[in-house]
Amino acid sequence: MYDFRITAADKATLYRDLVSAAEGLTAGEPDAIANMANVAALIWETLPDLNWAGFYRNVDGELVLGPFQGRPACFRIPFGQGVCGAAAQSLQVQRVEDVNAFPGHIACDAASASELVVPIVRDGKLVAVLDLDSPAPGRFTEEDEAGCVALCGLLAKLL
Ligand code: SME
Repeated sequence: MYDFRITAADKATLYRDLVSAAEGLTAGEPDAIANMANVAALIWETLPDLNWAGFYRNVDGELVLGPFQGRPACFRIPFGQGVCGAAAQSLQVQRVEDVNAFPGHIACDAASASELVVPIVRDGKLVAVLDLDSPAPGRFTEEDEAGCVALCGLLAKLL
């Protein structure tokens, strides 16, 4: 049984604990899908105010749905479309305070108000993106971005 209970007073500590829990959880497991599945569950249990947390994988230049927690979502997203596609094409983090103001945002769940998408890059190539959605506008701060970038740095070695 895995029982990670991460409660931290500040976001920097929260993300440090999350990254180290993800490291412990995935240690010794070589399967990328299994690692994404357990890390999505860990994020879902750890970060408050999310309505979706998971991965889209780069499969031959298209984003294909990977392991996640939340409501069923679009299976495939072309590079350049929506928030995930923008992150995939630019290899830049997309931190969107109001998804309704983002041109081409793909509304998989009408409840989503803000979104953070972090590219996972290995040897200069996109492996996957981490996508977090929240029903709260402006849910994701610079600290969330920094924490998720650190987490994706670890994931780049695991996927
Ligand atoms: N909103 C995303 C699509 C994926 S879902 O949020 C899970 C986007 O615009 O890329």
